Amino acid sequence: MLGLGIESSCDETSIGIVEDGNKLLSLKIFSQIETHAEFRGVVPEIASRAHLEKINILLEEALKEASLSLSDLSYVAVTTRPGLLGSLMIGAQLARCISFACKIPIVTVDHLEAHLNTVHLENKIPKFPYIGVLLSGGNSSIFIVEDFGKMKLLGDTSDDALGEAFDKVSSLLNLSYPGGPAIEKRASQYNQNSADKSPFPELLKDLPSDKIQFSYSGIKTSVLYYVKKQELNDEKINEICYHFQNTAFQLVEKNILKAIKLTGIKTIVASGGVVANETLRKRLLFIAAKKKIELYFPEKKILCTDNGAMVASLGYYLFQSGVRDSIDFRVSPNR
Ligand code: KG4
Repeated sequence: MLGLGIESSCDETSIGIVEDGNKLLSLKIFSQIETHAEFRGVVPEIASRAHLEKINILLEEALKEASLSLSDLSYVAVTTRPGLLGSLMIGAQLARCISFACKIPIVTVDHLEAHLNTVHLENKIPKFPYIGVLLSGGNSSIFIVEDFGKMKLLGDTSDDALGEAFDKVSSLLNLSYPGGPAIEKRASQYNQNSADKSPFPELLKDLPSDKIQFSYSGIKTSVLYYVKKQELNDEKINEICYHFQNTAFQLVEKNILKAIKLTGIKTIVASGGVVANETLRKRLLFIAAKKKIELYFPEKKILCTDNGAMVASLGYYLFQSGVRDSIDFRVSPNR
């Protein structure tokens, strides 16, 4: 069964074509990073215009790459929540047009769930229920995923998302946007010594043991005040990046361990832009080995980011379970 997935919830316009939910036939992604770089964050109005300019071109390219035409498709899946309203509407309208013209069903998809479904595209099939960990520019959340289309929030951030914190700290240090890759690189260049003490306090130190929560605005402020008192040279920037990243990831580990303890579930699926970080991947693998956890994340880093293939993949499973949405579906900024 051939399905098309449309993703336009934030600053990536993407079309993916997937066979039977897990075979990737083509994937086209246009990232608006350069467009938003001068603002050091996504500008919603600019994002929707950029989606509109690119989406039809990507559709044509994706079909060409897969040597298919629209009439070969069995369903069209589209991200409808959560995301920027104007951006979601561009993808939604394309889905409606394809559904109407080709007389194929629409399946609307939750963006966060689609991220967690990405591992299917690498033929990894986690068993339900699993713990879903989503770490991106807009989300730091942990879910119990009980089935396709069925997930329950265990905890999320009370302020900034993890990727957003990377972007803001990068800006404070005059590094590039998006901040994740820049900070990761600098952190890896730091000559750490064992007597080293972090200038940043542990995050959410006093959080009750049964509560799962993220918060990254505090560390951003700590970095801001620390930077003001320092002579910034290359080695100092590397040191700040190292300690920021280390402190930020400690909270991820703490929350994952809590989720395992609270639920008794020992299967973890992690995804989202921040999961492209090598240090985080190594740390998650280390915990998984130590605690005998079955851990899944996308091997291909491109699949960590927003993409249409994950939408087509989740769309397939929802379609198989009988989901069909009417052409007048709504988009929503929330889940
Ligand atoms: O999932 P994603 O591609 O899209 C949105 O959330 O819109 O995530 C983008 C976020 C950005 O904040 C970026 O700085 C972060 O993921 N990111 C990283 C890395 N690569 C991207 N964070 C840490 N380390 C990385 N290597």
